[in-house]
Amino acid sequence: MFGSPMRVGPVVVDPPVLLAPMAAVTDLPFRTVAEEHGVGLTITEFLSAHALSVGDPKTLGKLTASLGGRRFGVQIFGREEAPMARAAEIAVQIGASLVDINMGCPAKRVVAGECGSALMREPEMAQRLVRAVVGAVPADVPVTVKHRAGWDQAHRNAPEFACALVEAGAQMITVHGRTRTQGFAGSSDLEIIRLVREALPRHIPLVGNGDVVDVAGFVRMREVTGCDGVMIGRGALGNPWLFARCAAVAAGKPDPGPPTLEERLAVFRRHVGLIHELKTGPRVLHEVRKACAWYARGLYGCNRLRLDVWAAPDPEAATRLADDYFTQLIERRARLGLTPEGDRTEMDAVAAA
Ligand SMILES: Cc1cc2nc3c(=O)[nH]c(=O)nc-3n(C[C@H](O)[C@H](O)[C@H](O)COP(=O)(O)O)c2cc1C
Repeated sequence: MFGSPMRVGPVVVDPPVLLAPMAAVTDLPFRTVAEEHGVGLTITEFLSAHALSVGDPKTLGKLTASLGGRRFGVQIFGREEAPMARAAEIAVQIGASLVDINMGCPAKRVVAGECGSALMREPEMAQRLVRAVVGAVPADVPVTVKHRAGWDQAHRNAPEFACALVEAGAQMITVHGRTRTQGFAGSSDLEIIRLVREALPRHIPLVGNGDVVDVAGFVRMREVTGCDGVMIGRGALGNPWLFARCAAVAAGKPDPGPPTLEERLAVFRRHVGLIHELKTGPRVLHEVRKACAWYARGLYGCNRLRLDVWAAPDPEAATRLADDYFTQLIERRARLGLTPEGDRTEMDAVAAA
């Protein structure tokens, strides 16, 4: 379905499916599970360039290289050239294959500092930041930018803005087709993403983003916009199989379908195992609770499980609840005379209900 593999400078992204950076979500365990399911590239959550440049331990703790030497991107945000350059250098030191600049975050505290999506109102400032970061990293580390459709409905300047960034040295653009004022309301506008593709030089890859939660959405994003790659965020919560499914379809193979309950349980356990391995302190319980909710999402009785898990006193108790939940679902399926293979078709119906 896609032509040749997507190239960002010297970095090949194959399959052309990326995990979206999501603050407090796409930590190292999350990224690892996505990688193990065939995602083309993961990017850290956005990290304050200022905090990185002054050595803030909490922010440095979130700056994590992918396991097993896999390629990864680091996303930074800010509006001062020197800290942005310094943060990019630090990202390269830990092995980042690319440095992405956030110009799309709509959060009040970020926009109040004139960072994130606020930069879409200041294209020249945005260009200065791209130049500063390009100047700070080696030539084989591409600098990329993720932004929105525009500030608001009256200022949907994504095509011109993207071209200005490329002129300053950006080598890949990701567009989330909502405006800043939309936040997460409404839907991601595929037409503006198409217009960005039309405006950009052909050799610059464009990644389309927003509302892709299934294979049909992936195909639609690609066909309507002509984008070179697709970035998936919320649709990947507890659903890393979406990457394998999109990868198969991108390679012209049949969609392998959703996982069986047994597969869900196995990957849930893997995710929890990674949390224990890679996290410490009170965060472990918090992250395990989130994983329990994500992997049960859309399944029979998932709301009850979520409430129980949120009341669990420790990570082991939360994990046991989710484990028992999946085991009971598997027993229930047997009582109903259904087969694991049936999960592949029926789970889509359950998720859509
Ligand atoms: C909880 C959450 C955290 C996010 N954090 C970031 C971030 O750190 N950097 C960024 O560029 N976008 C961030 N986003 C936006 C996503 O990357 C993505 O653009 C958006 O969710 C639309 O894609 P989706 O519909 O596939 O989720 C975040 C979104 C969510 C839901």
